[in-house]
Amino acid sequence: MKDILEKLDGRRAAAKLGGGDKRGATQHERGKLTARERIELLLDKGSFEEFDMFVEHRSTEFGMEKTKVPGDGVVTGWGTVNGRKVFVFAKDFTVFGGSLSETHAQKIVKIQDMALKARAPIIGLYDAGGARIQEGVAALAGYSYVFRRNVQASGVIPQISVIMGPCAGGDVYSPAMTDFIFMVRETSYMFVTGPDVVRTVTKSSIADGAYDNDVEALLQMRRLIDFLPSNNADGVPQWPSFDDIERVDLSLDTLIPDNPNKPYDIKELILKVVDEGDFFEVAEAFAKNIVTGFGRIAGRTVGFVANQPMVLAGVLDSDASRKAARFVRFCDAFNIPIVTFVDVPGFLPGTAQEYGGLIKHGAKLLFAYSQCTVPLVTVITRKAYGGAFDVMASKEIGADMNYAWPTAQIAVMGAKGAVEIIFRQDMSDPDKIAARTREYEDRFLSPFIAAERGYVDDVIMPHSTRKRIARALAMLRDKKVETPAKKHDNLPL
Ligand code: HXC
Repeated sequence: MKDILEKLDGRRAAAKLGGGDKRGATQHERGKLTARERIELLLDKGSFEEFDMFVEHRSTEFGMEKTKVPGDGVVTGWGTVNGRKVFVFAKDFTVFGGSLSETHAQKIVKIQDMALKARAPIIGLYDAGGARIQEGVAALAGYSYVFRRNVQASGVIPQISVIMGPCAGGDVYSPAMTDFIFMVRETSYMFVTGPDVVRTVTKSSIADGAYDNDVEALLQMRRLIDFLPSNNADGVPQWPSFDDIERVDLSLDTLIPDNPNKPYDIKELILKVVDEGDFFEVAEAFAKNIVTGFGRIAGRTVGFVANQPMVLAGVLDSDASRKAARFVRFCDAFNIPIVTFVDVPGFLPGTAQEYGGLIKHGAKLLFAYSQCTVPLVTVITRKAYGGAFDVMASKEIGADMNYAWPTAQIAVMGAKGAVEIIFRQDMSDPDKIAARTREYEDRFLSPFIAAERGYVDDVIMPHSTRKRIARALAMLRDKKVETPAKKHDNLPL
């Protein structure tokens, strides 16, 4: 019996070696951790249970039968993050460059199926060279099985990809279909074909964030998991919060500058509203004119979408619309309420945007908000001009509670543009134009016309924003909306 137990120990030890000490050392020299070290950091201590550590490839091409490594280049299993169940697979670059073989794909597929069955998030850690070149079509088909499961799980369980080394060929498309992609600066890069490596994909919208090293990336993934629901039925996690929901913040009363064209940082408002100032920003480096991310109110996750006046005056352009639309759809799929802060001078004008598909991209955000069934709370802090007023979670497209600060300006456009159009005949008379501008500002650039007609539910004191949002979200906790039966919608892609 002792022999048998020792044999098991021996086989486990061999499997844990992966591609061997030398290749493991090379990982470290390159500033990367090994697959198992990464899993250790990602999961709660001692919680990892590994699947299929003895699986070997079955290829006999090019002398492959002589080079079998137990585990076949991917470490798979499940464990917990702060006590909550997650599934994980980590590509082992020390074994055939983490490349995907038939059996390697089967291991990933097993974990994907298990995660879906158990309704828990799945996290993929990538450090890999794509399809195992020696296996040909068996590897290509392996990817297809993985891709199909990504799509089946989409909107049911959160799927997260972390790129921690090369990510080549077929390995890029599975992450591309997951909910979030994060990268490690300097060591990670993605490419579909050829040598053109994309290292700074955070700017290209492919990645949702980048971190300085493996340790930071993995610790941030633990933080993200704490914000996310386990699946589309459980609702958001509830964590203890020591931040009073009645807390007022008087500094918000002076956040908006006197000059309406002067910027201010909308992140200050988000940080002052969320519990303990804890905000996980998503896609921070892309389309900075809109801010998206997760915070908590009363210990429960909330998705925040906010125009950022510091960048392009917070205008909506194609990239900002796409970025926010994807975030809104994620929140809606997983029952995360959305709070929208509006300070938007409109859509970005110009032929570059028009030819670049602004109509289609802007429609994505309009569509995403309009189809939401989660609680939607909107606060207009300053400008809500033109079509952007409608798009940014207006009451008429389905938001539940719409508030305006006294500094809000809700109008078809700013005073200057409006006067130049409707009083064109007076353009040669500066006094008349100045008088007309003042008249327009007094009449339209305030929240009260909208409030008088019920387009906003209340004009609120900026200092009470957290309290009002918390009350609205508590009131909307059990929101139910019936939608007509359909196979699926036809989002303007
Ligand atoms: C088999 C591979 C491999 C692969 C790397 N290796 N990629 N083995 N299949 N796809 C092996 C190498 O032979 C080497 O083995 C070890 O992994 C480390 O690789 P290096 O090249 O030494 O490492 P590095 O210099 O860091 O370069 C990493 C790399 C490079 C950039 C990923 O290996 C590379 O370009 N690989 C090929 C990428 C690629 O074109 N893949 C196929 C894509 S087609 P030894 O024994 O020497 O340590 C594809 C189709 C699917 O994926 C499409 C579905 C939509």
